Amino acid sequence: MKKDSVVQSAPFTGRKRSLIEDARREREKERERESTSASPGPSPSGDNFVFEEKSGKVTLSVLFALKNEKNAGFFKAGKVFETFETKLLHLESRPCRRSKNSLSSDDLEFFMKCEVHSSDIDFLINSLKRVAEDVRIVQEEKVPWFPRKISDLDKCNHLITKYDPDLDQDHPGFSDLEYRKRRAQISELAFNYKHGDPLPCVEYTAEEITTWREVFKTLTDIYPTHACRQFLEGLQQLEKECGYGADKIPQLREVSAFLKEKTGFELRPVAGLLSARDFLASLAFRVFQCTQYIRHSSAPMHSPEPDCCHELLGHIPMLTDKEFAQFSQEIGLASLGASDEDIEKLSTLYWFTVEFGLCKQNGVVKGLWCRTLYSLSNEPEYKPFSPAETAVQPYQDQTYQPVYFVSQSFEDAKNKMRQYSSTIQKPFTLRYDPYTCSMEVLDSPSQIHSVLGQIREELKILHCALERLTQS
Ligand SMILES: [Fe+2]
Repeated sequence: MKKDSVVQSAPFTGRKRSLIEDARREREKERERESTSASPGPSPSGDNFVFEEKSGKVTLSVLFALKNEKNAGFFKAGKVFETFETKLLHLESRPCRRSKNSLSSDDLEFFMKCEVHSSDIDFLINSLKRVAEDVRIVQEEKVPWFPRKISDLDKCNHLITKYDPDLDQDHPGFSDLEYRKRRAQISELAFNYKHGDPLPCVEYTAEEITTWREVFKTLTDIYPTHACRQFLEGLQQLEKECGYGADKIPQLREVSAFLKEKTGFELRPVAGLLSARDFLASLAFRVFQCTQYIRHSSAPMHSPEPDCCHELLGHIPMLTDKEFAQFSQEIGLASLGASDEDIEKLSTLYWFTVEFGLCKQNGVVKGLWCRTLYSLSNEPEYKPFSPAETAVQPYQDQTYQPVYFVSQSFEDAKNKMRQYSSTIQKPFTLRYDPYTCSMEVLDSPSQIHSVLGQIREELKILHCALERLTQS
């Protein structure tokens, strides 16, 4: 059931720029780089391969087979690589698996990875074909860098500076030099932060607390009728445990410690709006990147960018819920190593779930947070949450969204999200290891066996618990 909203006819005052736009911009930049780069592209020999160029040199992975008649073939092949001054990076051999060209399992197949000058590739391959059988270039998939361990998040600090008050004339704080100085001071804390450091505390001024108070009072008036049960419960706990209230801006350190106990999420300070890839990557580690500065006092109910009101009052209450925390991490995990195109889709999903998400509770549509005022009005269309459809829903940047997505439950959203993630093309599967706070790349049978072993141990614990219950 839709509700009338107090802001139905209000002008759009949301954030002007979204994660989605950031992701789109990154993808366009990447395309530009690709079209203007001097990369030689696919080899004229007809094989498609991907490599990274480094001062004219490329990394080439090649498979070839040698008949096991005499060892002469091996030395001849070696001579080819020597002639083209390749730098050997990796070499493996195994019995031939293909019976092509009268090769048998007595013959050997070689995998070689080497560095070679890009202009020599075709000559090298043709020369190799003369002395070896079944020569094939191995297509390597380029995977964008992603953090493998939680401390790698120190490198996930690429900011989108468009709405910086120092640069954007439309920013409410642009002409206030004192505000800009204060912002720079607080941003500096985030710039200097490294994983493992205690979270910085900010001593907020009376003016900043007044701004917070206005936002806090306005939003807490609306929450009881608009926010979902989990949000309200989370906020209540934060009021009790972390001193959330009208007269105090909560410190990240306190909030982070509380979240860690509740759902394993923790906060890290960030100096502004992060790139979509970096922001989503942090979620994979159950880290929420959180700004500490506050919006300008002249516009307490509007901020063109995230600030501590947005984070602490908009996002943190939901992160106290286990199902929602898991859902957020699922989006993050799906983003690691994903293509720019998939990052754009995942950002859209994030936007329509975490930022503007709706869920049905007791037959009533409720919001996951305060951006949902308009979404709960009679104006927009509701559609059931379906990741494949949500991921490509056009996002209106300068106005309210005409379409919103409603989840049946967080668990339902999480399961759908997991299903969607499995359709994202990647050459590996990732698993988060909560003991080491690192990503396990499951791309070999031995790694999968090792994880299975761990799961077996967990199952033994459950089995034991069940037996105890049936005995008592
Ligand atoms: Fe947000």
